Amino acid sequence: MTIKPHGGVLINRILTGTEREKVIARADSLPRLVLDNWEVSDLELIANGAYSPLTGFMKKDDYEHVVNHMRLADGTVWSLPIVLGVTPEEAEDLKAAGEAALYSEEGLLLGIIKVEEIFGYNKDLEAEKVFLTKDEAHPGVKRLYQRDSLLVGGQISLVNRVKPKLFPEMYLDPAETRRIFTEKGWRRVVAFQTRNPIHRAHEYLQKCALEICDGLFLNPLVGETKEDDIPAAVRVECYNVLLDKYYPAERTFMSAFPAAMRYAGPREAVFHAIVRKNYGATHFIVGRDHAGVGNYYGTYDAQLIFDNFTPAELGITPLFFEHTFYCKVCGGMGSSKTCPHDKEHHVFLSGTKVREMLAAGQTPPEEFTRKEVAEVLIRYYQGS
Ligand code: ADX
Repeated sequence: MTIKPHGGVLINRILTGTEREKVIARADSLPRLVLDNWEVSDLELIANGAYSPLTGFMKKDDYEHVVNHMRLADGTVWSLPIVLGVTPEEAEDLKAAGEAALYSEEGLLLGIIKVEEIFGYNKDLEAEKVFLTKDEAHPGVKRLYQRDSLLVGGQISLVNRVKPKLFPEMYLDPAETRRIFTEKGWRRVVAFQTRNPIHRAHEYLQKCALEICDGLFLNPLVGETKEDDIPAAVRVECYNVLLDKYYPAERTFMSAFPAAMRYAGPREAVFHAIVRKNYGATHFIVGRDHAGVGNYYGTYDAQLIFDNFTPAELGITPLFFEHTFYCKVCGGMGSSKTCPHDKEHHVFLSGTKVREMLAAGQTPPEEFTRKEVAEVLIRYYQGS
């Protein structure tokens, strides 16, 4: 028995057979909306149930409840708007037709949306509530201010999926990961979100969590990330070398999380947890500054936000970790909770410092990054 999906039912809006044929046949006569990669990933994640209980892009009531209260209109916990922007000109055509055909930028018909509502919204309010800043230097806020001025809400149906360019075998739907966890006999599955190569701190959190769970579900985000994040293809190479050598194969499972990164810190931590519940995880790791960027969020804000919800409302159990590091005196990993020694004994490198070292072909200390991972990263930074 796997954990119940969020809202109770795993949504499936992927059409097959004659239903699919019918939609394809009438798509030509409908107004077209072209979705960018970010929107395509949201569409697919609604359709495959990763965003259960959502069945479409949000309507006004849900959108406003989410922005203001971190809940859908019916009270279900949900922390990030999942919306589709349209221009006023597009909105006119959509209203008249009642449906729109959704296309990728490459011209592939993806599905349709039932136009249930078109509404305006307050970008400043969304920025302040969701990102806690209106600063357009924040990548999530920047994206929000670039979004079209109206939102179209309504149920979606998917008829075609964009083929992943890299590692297609890593793209599994929640129904598939759930089946795999059941087959493995895992009852307690801890999920790990990451948008970075796995450093020793990440490995430590994962292995601590695995001590109290049956299986580790490594679920790296491979959707859109900001320019200076390491590309997913390079990260996947790092994950693979690490898993091969340092992780127990029978207790570790990896698949891709194709969503875009919002960098919404605390709000995104809740979203990440709920989505991993839909993939079948029972536990979710939240460390320091989860999904943060720059200095917009306090180190543990992404943990404190969970206090707004009861365990039953969330369903998935967050596992909180302090900032972890290698301590030379302890001779191992630890945190301020477990290590009594001064900072000078801790191996800590800032992201900038690590990037500088890798770009110069220098291997960071083994206490910070496994050498196999460093080798992959040095190749990437040196452009080969
Ligand atoms: S994130 O944007 O996906 O959160 P990252 O891949 O760096 O970024 O982090 C993945 C998870 O590991 C997050 O839960 C984050 O809080 C946690 N984490 C990363 N580094 C540390 C660390 N040194 N100590 C504790 N937790 C950490």
